[in-house]
Formats: sequence, structure tokens, C-alpha cells
Amino acid sequence: MHDKILILDFGSQVTQLIARRVREAHVYCEIHPNDVSDDFIRSFAPKGIILSGSHASTYEDHQLRAPQAVWDLGVPVLGICYGMQTMAVQLGGSVEWSDHREFGYAEVRAHGHTRLLKDIQDFATPEGYGMLKVWMSHGDKVASLPPGFKLMASTPSCPIAGMAHEDKGYYAVQFHPEVTHTVQGQAMLTRFVREIAGCSGDWIMGNYIEEAVAKIREQVGDEEVILGLSGGVDSSVAAALIHRAIGDQLTCVFVDHGLLRLNEGDMVMDMFSGRLHAKVIRVDASELFLGALAGVTDPEKKRKIIGGLFVDVFKAEADKLKAGTGGHKGATFLAQGTIYPDVVESGGTKTKKATTIKSHHNVGGLPEQLGLKLLEPLRELFKDEVRELGVALGLPADMVYRHPFPGPGLGVRILGEIKPEYVKLLQRADAIFIEELRAARDASGKSWYDLTSQAFTVFLPVKSVGVMGDGRTYDYVVALRAVQTSDFMTADWAELPYSLLKKVSGRIINEVRGINRVTYDVSSKPPATIEWE
Ligand code: XMP
Repeated sequence: MHDKILILDFGSQVTQLIARRVREAHVYCEIHPNDVSDDFIRSFAPKGIILSGSHASTYEDHQLRAPQAVWDLGVPVLGICYGMQTMAVQLGGSVEWSDHREFGYAEVRAHGHTRLLKDIQDFATPEGYGMLKVWMSHGDKVASLPPGFKLMASTPSCPIAGMAHEDKGYYAVQFHPEVTHTVQGQAMLTRFVREIAGCSGDWIMGNYIEEAVAKIREQVGDEEVILGLSGGVDSSVAAALIHRAIGDQLTCVFVDHGLLRLNEGDMVMDMFSGRLHAKVIRVDASELFLGALAGVTDPEKKRKIIGGLFVDVFKAEADKLKAGTGGHKGATFLAQGTIYPDVVESGGTKTKKATTIKSHHNVGGLPEQLGLKLLEPLRELFKDEVRELGVALGLPADMVYRHPFPGPGLGVRILGEIKPEYVKLLQRADAIFIEELRAARDASGKSWYDLTSQAFTVFLPVKSVGVMGDGRTYDYVVALRAVQTSDFMTADWAELPYSLLKKVSGRIINEVRGINRVTYDVSSKPPATIEWE
């Protein structure tokens, strides 16, 4: 059993960041809604509890409270932002509510040498006060300390920016230690979970393999498992982990829709079948997909066709495996690479409604339709942890750290109608772009591939005039796209060096006959999206 931290979510946009920081301190934690029952909290048996902030616009939500068990359990508690305010109110202090909020950078003065902030500071004032550079978000603020608490931090506009009851191990800050703008945020959260709550720091991916393997073996027993392998990070790591646990009881189904990157299908087979010796069925369905897509130009229609066919093809294979063939008794489990952010988002306290800009292709609902039990060995992990686990399992770093690739693949990177000829041109142009991005480095020695979050080439079905040798050409255009983003909700176009763009464009035009013009997309999201369709 790992030492555990419980994070109670009051609906902040950044609660997941708290969990990521805690995991970075090698401590296991889970996020649960603020209104869980006292029994749940007792049975979860956390060594410490963190109360999150709340979302910016919910002045009316200031009635939300932490369950009584939080205060009865006798474990350290850290309140962040709204979490601090509810701690103050529930323990006998007071809060000044306001519908006006201020956000931004602030410098906070630390008071009274608390355990949480001891020796943690960004700089000292000439008078010798320790100062912290933090990200603040206040409006509502604690107006008077609850009995037994002392002042831990202050700013001119927020006189009680931090408070502590050291005997009980209760600490609270008005600012957000979980965001990177708070320079010492990781240090504070690590201090809380490791030293104050006393968690041992045993959450390490290399060691986690053994535990995960044991869990999978226990869950699966001698039954058989099917997994849809896409070549993406999550399904690849899930496949490698499950294969480690149950070997040939796992069969991977890799549906090749013909819209993958250059040689990608062969590389996936090479890795899983060739090197890991996993059982992989490759279904070459490119003709089926390209046939169904012929003449279709609307992006959403294209997505629906690709997503629908994908499910059909996968189901047909799964049905065969379910029935059992040649000595196999038939699969009873479907494995999926669901990761923790998917779990938190679908079961969160608040309904986060977002308008559908693009219908993302997914295979949700498949297990029920197939009548299979679900195996999700990555459900507890964040993306960074999945990557670490992948490396620990022996997957190559460039597979595990690769940019995301949309389910519909090149289908949404060829504008309008998809033709086999376009796919071939795009695959070759894109391979050149990615190869050069990996090769080019900035002054610090980092590759431009690693400096960007997602980079790819888009095929534009328009022809433009060019000149090559003595002749006139009349060929297609491609656009290069490279963005930097932390959450893919907003993104900046990457300021790639001109020398790199020049090299890529020179190589594409010279090496890919049929393309005579290369452009670079300088649009950020919003208002543009990352993909062109
Ligand atoms: P947009 O283009 O919406 O992309 O800014 C945000 C992120 O989502 C990916 N994306 C998709 N992923 N199916 C997927 O699995 C899709 O239909 C799809 N459309 C966009 C995109 O690559 C980027 O990472």
C-alpha cells in the first residue's frame, strides 16, 4: 500500500495540477469531489488532505464545504485559495466575500518561520524578510484567523495570504502553489506531502511495473484480452505493460486505416511483434477506408466515416477473437489506454460543458457493445507517468515522447477530398519535416521536435506555378504547422528558425515530386485550431 494524499476538488480549473505536483513529489494521490462522504474519507485513509481552489466565476459557490471527517481524521490539511477560505470559515475564522477578483503575479512576505515555508524563499528584502513570487487569485479573502492559527504570509492587498495551525498540521495559502508561476510551488507542495504529512515518496514508475503487473494478473487470471493498438503513446504503453503481465493471453489488434504517417504501420509491427514478441493482428483496411472516403470533402463527415469504420473493423476482429480460434478459448477482456485525466474529467464534481468544435474520434462504449469486461491499467496515471512507465518497460523514448496524432490521422490533414495520391505526397513531405525538426537544435542543445508540442504537414489541394530547372511546374502546396502549448486548448505557433524552415522547404520541393511550394502556418489557437480541419 502506498501512502496516499486525498485532494478534494472544489471545482478549480487547475485541481489536476495539484495532483501532478504531488505525483512529481513521488507521492500517490487521488482527486475526489469536495462532497464525498465522511465514510469515504475514512476508508481512503489519506496521510494528508489538500483542499483545492474553486472556479473563478462561482461567487455563489462559496457555500461549498469540506466534509467534517477532514477535520476529525487528525491528519495534516493544506487549503489552497478557496480551500483556505473554507478552512477559515469551518474552523471559526471569517472571510470577506466579494464578487470582484484579482489575478496575477504577487510577491508575498513569509511570516513566523512555519514548517511549510521554512527556508523556502525567492529573495529577501533589505530588512531580511523572506519573499515568495507567487500566482495570486483573490477577491474573497480571509478576514480573521480561526482560533489557534497564526499568520504565515501576507501581501499589501491581502493581509492574510497564508495561515497555519502548526500543532494540527493545518496550512493554507491564498495563492496557487500548483501553478508554475509560483516559483517555489513545487517545493511547498513537496514539503507538505513528504515532510508534514510524512508520505514516503514511494510512487516511482520503475517500481510501479511490478505492482501493476500483479494487479493485471489478478484481474485477468487465465482469461484472454484484446487491445486496440493505434501506435499512440497510451495504447502502446498499455500494450507493453499488459504483455509484460500476461504474455500471449493478450492479442493486439492494429487497424491500419491507410492514413498513418510514413512507415508508421511497419514501425508499430516491428516494435510490438518484432521486438516485444507480442501477438499483433494487423488489419490492412486502407482500401476500405479510402474507398469510403472517396468524394467526401466535409471535415466532420470524414471524421464520422473514419471513426465509424474503425469501430466496425475493430469489432469484426474482436468478435473473431471472442469466439476463440485454434486452441484459444476466446477473449473476455477489452483493454484500453484510459489515463487519469480522462477519469477525472468524466466523473468530476462540476459539469464542464464545452462546445464541440470537432467531434473527436474515440471508441467509448465499445466494451458494452462487445460484451467484454474492461481492463484499464493506466487509469491511475498522468501522461508524464505513462511516458515514464513506457521507458521503464523498454519502449523507445522517441515513441513514448512523440507528439499527439489525431485518430483520423492524415484524414484531417488533407483538406477536402482524400485521394491515395495526396496521402503519399503528404506522408513523404511530413516525414522530411519531422526528420529535420528532430535534427535541428536550439542553443541549449534541445531538438526542435522536443521544443514543440505538435508539428506536422498539411496537404492543400491547390496547384501553384513554379519553375524547376528550365521548366515550368504546376504542382501542389503544403503548409507546415508547429505549435507550442501546455494543454492543447490554446497554442502559439512556434517561432522555428528560418534556417530550419529553409532546409525543410528545400528538401520537400526537391525530393517530393508533385509539391512545388511550402508555406508556414503563423496562426495561433484561438482563433485558429491546431489541425486545419
Ligand atoms: P484542435 O485542432 O482542435 O486540436 O486545436 C487539439 C488537439 O486535438 C487533436 N485532434 C484530434 N484528436 N481525433 C483525435 O483523436 C480528432 O478528430 C482530432 N482533431 C484534433 C489535435 O491533433 C490536437 O492535438
